[in-house]
Amino acid sequence: MTDLEVRTACVDDVPGVEPLVADALSRLATLRGGVALLEMIGLPQGAGPEEVSSALCGQALLAATTIVATLSGSVVGVAVVVRTEAGLDLIGVHTARSMRRRRIGTTLLDAARAIASELGVRFEALALPGDQTVKSLLEAGGFKARLLRMAADR
Ligand SMILES: CC(C)(COP(=O)(O)OP(=O)(O)OC[C@H]1O[C@@H](n2cnc3c(N)ncnc32)[C@H](O)[C@@H]1OP(=O)(O)O)[C@@H](O)C(=O)NCCC(=O)NCCS
Repeated sequence: MTDLEVRTACVDDVPGVEPLVADALSRLATLRGGVALLEMIGLPQGAGPEEVSSALCGQALLAATTIVATLSGSVVGVAVVVRTEAGLDLIGVHTARSMRRRRIGTTLLDAARAIASELGVRFEALALPGDQTVKSLLEAGGFKARLLRMAADR
């Protein structure tokens, strides 16, 4: 898609990002590890789409950066990267349902990878166990699982 733009999110993106975040949050609630992933970036348990979108677009979460993909000014995709001691992790990527399989996810993945490259740090992506679409996106981009972190508690 030629007019697809990718950039860092700002507060003006909150209304456009919110429906995507609402969909991602309802999906996360069904996935093992989803709540822990939100906690990991400092989001309070039970935070709703508006609160989460404001925190993400306002770049208010410690060490997290939010990227948006827009098409003709409308937000069609969102990704969140987190800076860690070891490098940069892509911790979430979401494309609007009606816009999937048009390389928006790949463009966001490439943008996240470019940030790590600019910083000169290693880049990795996280995927939750049941999140097959994200795993497929990553595998299509040449990523392979290196470590499965397993827990007995939740
Ligand atoms: C994962 C996701 C971001 C992919 O976005 P997308 O814009 O459709 O991805 P792309 O078009 O760049 O896909 C690139 C390649 O990845 C693979 N792929 C992506 N989605 C796939 C799917 N559902 N099934 C199989 N392969 C898939 C394909 O190889 C695809 O290439 P192709 O379309 O030429 O076959 C999207 O499916 C999504 O938002 N899923 C929900 C994720 C989510 O909300 N998780 C919880 C919070 S993070």
